[in-house]
Amino acid sequence: MHRIKNKNVLLTGATGGIGRQIALTLGRAGASLMLAARSADQLEALRAELRSTGARADFAAGDLLDDSYRRNLPLRARSAMGQIDILINNAGVDEFVEFTDQRRSDIQLILDLNITAPMMLTREVLGPMLERRAGHIINMASLAGRVATPYASVYSGSKAALAQWSFSLAGELSDSGVAVSVICPGFVDDAGMFARRKREAPGLVAACSPQDVADAVVQSIRQRRVETLVSARPARPLVALQALSPSLVTALTEKLKLREFLYSLTKN
Ligand SMILES: NC(=O)c1ccc[n+]([C@@H]2O[C@H](COP(=O)([O-])OP(=O)(O)OC[C@H]3O[C@@H](n4cnc5c(N)ncnc54)[C@H](OP(=O)(O)O)[C@@H]3O)[C@@H](O)[C@H]2O)c1
Repeated sequence: MHRIKNKNVLLTGATGGIGRQIALTLGRAGASLMLAARSADQLEALRAELRSTGARADFAAGDLLDDSYRRNLPLRARSAMGQIDILINNAGVDEFVEFTDQRRSDIQLILDLNITAPMMLTREVLGPMLERRAGHIINMASLAGRVATPYASVYSGSKAALAQWSFSLAGELSDSGVAVSVICPGFVDDAGMFARRKREAPGLVAACSPQDVADAVVQSIRQRRVETLVSARPARPLVALQALSPSLVTALTEKLKLREFLYSLTKN
């Protein structure tokens, strides 16, 4: 069992619905946090909230699409709190839209933020972790990256790439002392990108909470699991079915009216 107390965590997307909950949960567990996102005001408020609970926290505002920020962020984290023990690549963006309507600039944005930024940031923090033979990279993917998601095909593809890269890197580093994990939540209610749409997820894919995702991060740190699915309903059979028969998943998505629901999200 790996401990969280006194671990230094660099967390991206810290001000979002899920990131905020991860920050508060890890802060309560005794971690020191370097919070990252674009909005300095929101980061400052979260830092104050964390400090008021006795947690150690600092922030570095910037845009993860900017390569110089991505290079500097680990340096700023190290000068504020010391070595980075855990990197959580949580920032991400989604879009529900018919693929033919998706703007070229949005395709680029989704790929840059959801897959390129985690890779680049990981590359910056990995060297010292490998030297110490200790550390943990945690990537926030999505069930949409493990099960085909019509009308969010670019998002789904970006999260599939993030998951597959994580599995591959976990294998590459398996004897290095550095763990790589991926977390795949389904729809999340209460806060975050899906909750802002103010829609109820259909029963088959009922939503989980930001706290469920934060708890999954805690478990993933403690147990160094390669993959954790976070879902109100058992999701592993669906992931297995996707691998065994993509055609069957396409047919089921239609039959169970999930495709209709996903299409309705393009109108939100
Ligand atoms: N919510 C869900 O239903 C759900 C389900 C499955 C997976 N996920 C994944 O969970 C992660 C967090 O989702 P969420 O619901 O918490 O999203 P969210 O509420 O939209 O938060 C996104 C976070 O990313 C930051 N961010 C966005 N663009 C950025 C950029 N260019 N540079 C730096 N930071 C940026 C945002 O802060 P600023 O705007 O201040 O930059 C914010 O902190 C994402 O990777 C998402 O794909 C979410």
